Amino acid sequence: MAQHVQGVIAPGKNEPVRVETIVIPDPGPGEAVVKIQACGVCHTDLHYKQGGINDEFPFLLGHEAAGVVESVGDGVTDVAPGDFVVLNWRAVCGQCRACLRGRPWYCFDTHNAKQKMTLLDGTELSPALGIGAFAEKTLVAAGQCTKVDPEVSPAVAGLLGCGVMAGIGAAINTGQVGRGDSVAVIGCGGVGDAAIAGARLAGAAKIIAVDIDDRKLETAKKMGATHTVNSRADDPVEAIRALTGGNGADVVIEAVGRPETYKQAFYARDLAGTVVLVGVPTPEMQLELPLLDVFGRGGSLKSSWYGDCLPSRDFPMLIDLHQQGRIDLGAFVTETIGLGDIEQAFGRMHDGDVLRSVVVF
Ligand code: APR
Ligand code: ZN
Ligand code: ZN
Repeated sequence: MAQHVQGVIAPGKNEPVRVETIVIPDPGPGEAVVKIQACGVCHTDLHYKQGGINDEFPFLLGHEAAGVVESVGDGVTDVAPGDFVVLNWRAVCGQCRACLRGRPWYCFDTHNAKQKMTLLDGTELSPALGIGAFAEKTLVAAGQCTKVDPEVSPAVAGLLGCGVMAGIGAAINTGQVGRGDSVAVIGCGGVGDAAIAGARLAGAAKIIAVDIDDRKLETAKKMGATHTVNSRADDPVEAIRALTGGNGADVVIEAVGRPETYKQAFYARDLAGTVVLVGVPTPEMQLELPLLDVFGRGGSLKSSWYGDCLPSRDFPMLIDLHQQGRIDLGAFVTETIGLGDIEQAFGRMHDGDVLRSVVVF
């Protein structure tokens, strides 16, 4: 029997989001219905609303979520009703060329639910990142459910589903930050701060936070930054070099996603160092660099999609480390809000007032 629940949709380009009744089908083969307990508000949700991702309105927003599996369809063996799970948007297929080469974190054919959730009039919804969790319940592919320790608060656990995982993974998976490394992070929002926390977890000796907003630099220190640079006041490339014996950092993580900050990252790294781009650029942005510098400075220029995470490996590990007090995922939750407060939360996110607003049910 299909169920009716309350959820938040983006009805059309730049129209305010609104709460609607959503029809959730029973889970089919390989699918699961999850009762959502918490879901963070992410920039990507705002980009969907603004039409920046695609035109497949209406969207069922929300994708950084944790909850309890309510029911599963045929053939589902990895999760069962009652399991506490974090939802992921990388349910690996096991069969694409990336998976077959043993690199499932690059999976090119990730799974989503096959059936559609709809409005009462039958209009099909496009769930954000194949999840759609600003709703009391949602329908996903069972592989999108990653079991974690149920002792952790859902508001904290859910954040691993997107931005916080992207940042931590940019440092530990993509950047391969190691003990004693020097790391610079440009842009200290939720993603950059998570990269700072990840670098600290990985044993970085020096972690330089760069932002244009002093409030963000203060928070970055709490996450583990050992030094801060306000790049409005000081040239970040010069400042990072000065803090690293004149050399530049071993790993520079670009968590803004703009050509000028990418260039800063490129020149602020040591020879043969690594740049990790985890901030998401927009389609019109162009990058111009002297090719001789790209060659001559060596090292590696990497992108990090979702922190190159493998949910089944990384989510339970990070929850365990959080429970042991070795990384403070709770520090990313600025406020908890209700389902009707998302439009205002977008405003606060835009103004840089919050790391994460989390809808709790
Ligand atoms: N130089 C340094 N920092 C900057 C600059 C700049 N030119 N422009 C913006 N910033 C800082 C902001 O002050 C803010 O602290 O970058 C940070 C961006 O943080 P958020 O807006 O909170 O974004 P976040 O959620 O961290 O995501 C960062 O990753 O997922 C993508 O779409 C997302 O591109 C965005 C990026
Ligand atoms: Zn695959
Ligand atoms: Zn997100």
